[in-house]
Amino acid sequence: MTFPTRRLRRLRTSAKMRELIQETTLNPSNLICPVFVQEELKARIKVESMPEIEKLPLDDVNDEVGTISDLNIPAIMLFGIPTKKDDAGTSAFEENGIVQKGISQIRSNFGDKIVIIADVCLCQYTTAGHCGIVHGDKIDNDLSIDTLSKIAVSQAKAGVDIVSPSAMMDGQVAAIRKALDDEGFTNVSIMSHSAKHYSSFYSPFRDAAECAPKFGDRKTYQVPFTNAREAMREVETDIHEGVDIVMIKPALAYLDLIAETRRRFNVPVAAYSVSGEYALVKGAAKQGWINEKDITAEILYSIKRAGADMIVTYFAKSAAEFLQES
Ligand code: PBG
Repeated sequence: MTFPTRRLRRLRTSAKMRELIQETTLNPSNLICPVFVQEELKARIKVESMPEIEKLPLDDVNDEVGTISDLNIPAIMLFGIPTKKDDAGTSAFEENGIVQKGISQIRSNFGDKIVIIADVCLCQYTTAGHCGIVHGDKIDNDLSIDTLSKIAVSQAKAGVDIVSPSAMMDGQVAAIRKALDDEGFTNVSIMSHSAKHYSSFYSPFRDAAECAPKFGDRKTYQVPFTNAREAMREVETDIHEGVDIVMIKPALAYLDLIAETRRRFNVPVAAYSVSGEYALVKGAAKQGWINEKDITAEILYSIKRAGADMIVTYFAKSAAEFLQES
């Protein structure tokens, strides 16, 4: 009989032993919960392509944030769906815009008991549905970063903690940092969607946020999913421009980039597990083909293992629940 010289199974002999040697941990404090607030809504609406996700009227936002906070999730990411769209994306930076109202309401109710992160983008707010300002048949980078800066400042005035630009315009972090500092908001942080890829994983979100582009696609601004070095250049550029937290998006098909970012840079790394990742799990679980809870845990632990410090996920509430049970 031959004997193995190394016995790795020795450390797997009991649940307590496995607990002792567990390398990666996941806590509700690692999670960020997306919240959709829609202007002029009378009651919650379900998002068809994202089971159990709802768009909320302003009046329901505090309830929702209360639920999230009671689950020990420290942060929300707020997305607004306005009634009015125009070419300049005006409703994105108005003082009484839907996101601004949401932020100030949450802030006055919860004080510093929750970290408020707000999406800074134009696609929900412009007629064309692009993440920047359209000029002719192009997305104009430099006009766009002016508007993105206005959005960030308006959110800061409403009381946001972290602004999260997702437009993938060049120089957006530098422009926003300068605008915030000029207005005295030196303590408002920036979590940039640094390497946001051109991805088919976003389509359920576009149903929810009503932000699909009316012409063309987002290929002239989002990172091609074939390019890892280019993604690292995006991250490096954001760091150079003064970002506080970088983000890799989507997460599950991009674990290599999360790991690479963790290895190369010393900034906090967020991963955004996007709507399509959620929809895949929900769809298969509904058929009974996979176990939703087990697979969610495996996915979130894997994103953490790859190197993410925090995860934006539509599973935030359900994961926080099962993490607290175990
Ligand atoms: C818009 C935005 C998108 C997402 C977040 N912000 C969609 C897009 O770029 O088309 C996707 C999020 C998700 O799919 O969960 N700037």
